[in-house]
Amino acid sequence: MTPLSQDTLFRLEDFTLLTARRKNVLSSPKQYGSSDEDARPYLIEGGWHLIHAPQEIQFQPNTSEAVHRWSPYVQGFSASFVQRTLERYRDEYNVPKVLDPFAGSGTVLVQSKFNGFPSFGIELNPLLHFITSVKVANWHIDPQRWLSTVEMLLDTSRSLSTPNFTAPSFLKSETHFRAPVLRNLEKLKATIDWLDPVDPVMQGIKNLCLLAFASILIDCSNLKRSPCLGYCRTKKVEDDAPFHLFAQKSRQIAADLEFCQSQYAAVLNTPSTVFLGNSMSLGLPEMVDLIITSPPYMNGLDYVMNYKIEMGWLNFGQSHRQLIKRSDGGLR
Ligand SMILES: C[S@@+](CC[C@H](N)C(=O)[O-])C[C@H]1O[C@@H](n2cnc3c(N)ncnc32)[C@H](O)[C@@H]1O
Repeated sequence: MTPLSQDTLFRLEDFTLLTARRKNVLSSPKQYGSSDEDARPYLIEGGWHLIHAPQEIQFQPNTSEAVHRWSPYVQGFSASFVQRTLERYRDEYNVPKVLDPFAGSGTVLVQSKFNGFPSFGIELNPLLHFITSVKVANWHIDPQRWLSTVEMLLDTSRSLSTPNFTAPSFLKSETHFRAPVLRNLEKLKATIDWLDPVDPVMQGIKNLCLLAFASILIDCSNLKRSPCLGYCRTKKVEDDAPFHLFAQKSRQIAADLEFCQSQYAAVLNTPSTVFLGNSMSLGLPEMVDLIITSPPYMNGLDYVMNYKIEMGWLNFGQSHRQLIKRSDGGLR
């Protein structure tokens, strides 16, 4: 592959060929039949060597993979795709430093860590930045301590009469959540917020609680994501779903922590860092050997709209406008 400088990748305004692609996408996203075909002529002109290697790339298979499955995501690629790509360059680089400038839910960073390869990510959306950070930073947490904290949280939240957490008003309508489900979610979130970490391990446990909470929200709602967020009239959510699903997700996390600590003890301290920001303007502290990424779907997906439920409940904003402001990286 032609070596590319960071400038070529990130400063699109200086790179006329990609700017032409951007214009083309704006006027006709499917000029050659698919966005893949559409991108081809520009990438070839830009000096990229394209490999034809059809393979399963969707995020879906990750829902049964340790750590990757902690948080549901639609717009990601599969861990096995990342693994094959890492293996392709393993001999060339020995221990490559890996970068994903559009980290999303962290598939590249998590998979790099499983291989003991240091990695960096950049992510614009604060929710996805949080999810990726939590997924790579907490493999050392004792599963028993995690489970006993969860048990205590569930007992406390079930017995709360007046939670001191209220969901942002733009997410409170009956079309989003049935009233008793909403009430139980508020109790659970109030109890998680009440945790006051005194050390980094407890902070990690609190972050895992927030991740687990975010990951059950769509299942507790009257919505579905496929891939965009929409209402689902036929969905029946039990009043108890928040407690039940949170317990289930926590057991899954405990099993994965045990798996990482027993099977991947040697890589637990592999550095993985995700920066919150715009990859078009954010510099990196060091050089990297390998970039594996799937860029955002231009004009195809509104990430804030699609993740507004999780962003609102996790306090990233009290209105849709605030969520947009928090996620624009200075772009708008
Ligand atoms: C297709 S997703 C990447 C998914 C990732 N490969 C995974 O498996 O989870 C693209 C990501 O790029 C992020 N993004 C969009 N524009 C960005 C920018 N200028 N800088 C950094 N991240 C950006 C989006 O928020 C989104 O999470």
